[in-house]
Amino acid sequence: MINTVGVIGLGTMGAGIVEVFAKAGLSVIAVDGSAELAERGKGFLTKSLGRAVSKGKLSESERDEIVGRVAFGDDLAAMKDADLVIEAVPELLEIKTSIFTTLDDIVRDDCVLATNTSSLSITEIAKSTKEPSRVIGMHFFNPAPVLPLVEVIHSLLTDVKLVEDVRELAVRLGKKPVVVGDRAGFVANALLIAYLARSIRAYETGLASREDLDAAMAAGVGFPMGPLTLCDLIGLDVVHEVCGVLYDATHDPSVASPPLLRQMVAAGYLGRKSGKGFYTYE
Ligand code: CAA
Repeated sequence: MINTVGVIGLGTMGAGIVEVFAKAGLSVIAVDGSAELAERGKGFLTKSLGRAVSKGKLSESERDEIVGRVAFGDDLAAMKDADLVIEAVPELLEIKTSIFTTLDDIVRDDCVLATNTSSLSITEIAKSTKEPSRVIGMHFFNPAPVLPLVEVIHSLLTDVKLVEDVRELAVRLGKKPVVVGDRAGFVANALLIAYLARSIRAYETGLASREDLDAAMAAGVGFPMGPLTLCDLIGLDVVHEVCGVLYDATHDPSVASPPLLRQMVAAGYLGRKSGKGFYTYE
């Protein structure tokens, strides 16, 4: 039974995942690389819960209970008490494998090791541990507290029983799990990223203004938001990194990171989280 969950990396996705687990009544050990980053993660959580309180969807005491379930810190050793640890650090294989190798010596033998990677190989991450059968992908979508989908990704080495346990956990969190194999981008990103990259290229070539391009897909096709707005939400650095992983795996030109995207990331325009992307944010 999974009751205590560790979350590593408290950026947009990690903080959202902390919120999902804590709201579902689980105890959460939330760790980032420094006290400042842990404090920032706590700020994301309290801000998100504060919005729900001001909308009357959560009482102040419920908010306090949820925050009270989370222990924030900067020491991976705290993961010794976790039943499942999910990693949500940036999409760089070396960072992830180094965290998993370290975790191996900290967590209990029966602890599940999950990654929220958007596109990296679960098999390669699993191979950095002593027991690859307990490693699995558990991929949430941004904003994690809102979107129901969780991709449960198994490698060839993942214990079959674990796939079912993690699928059940996702249901317990109120999510919609789908079980998928270990291919670059899994299902959702493999299909989504080609569309986003193509949209950026269309904008770059002057096909339409950013507003009209977004309106075409939102008002015409019924997507909740247009592709450029969605890139800003996901984070342009994340879109760029996922493009790189998909391109390396497939050599499909439609997923290559568009030149404009590369320049925007180099300029520090990362979307909503940096205040500027295709649009500007307060
Ligand atoms: N964190 C927490 N809650 C949020 C939120 C956030 N960042 N953004 C919005 N919400 C909540 C709002 O508080 C609101 O909650 P209530 O209904 O309880 O009031 C609800 O979501 C709806 O928000 P809004 O009314 O402000 O706006 P909306 O109806 O336009 O919905 C949206 C916003 C949920 C983001 C919606 O536009 C949407 O689903 N967009 C598409 C997002 C998407 O495709 N995400 C996937 C990205 S790909 C990915 O994540 C994979 C990857 O690996 C890269």
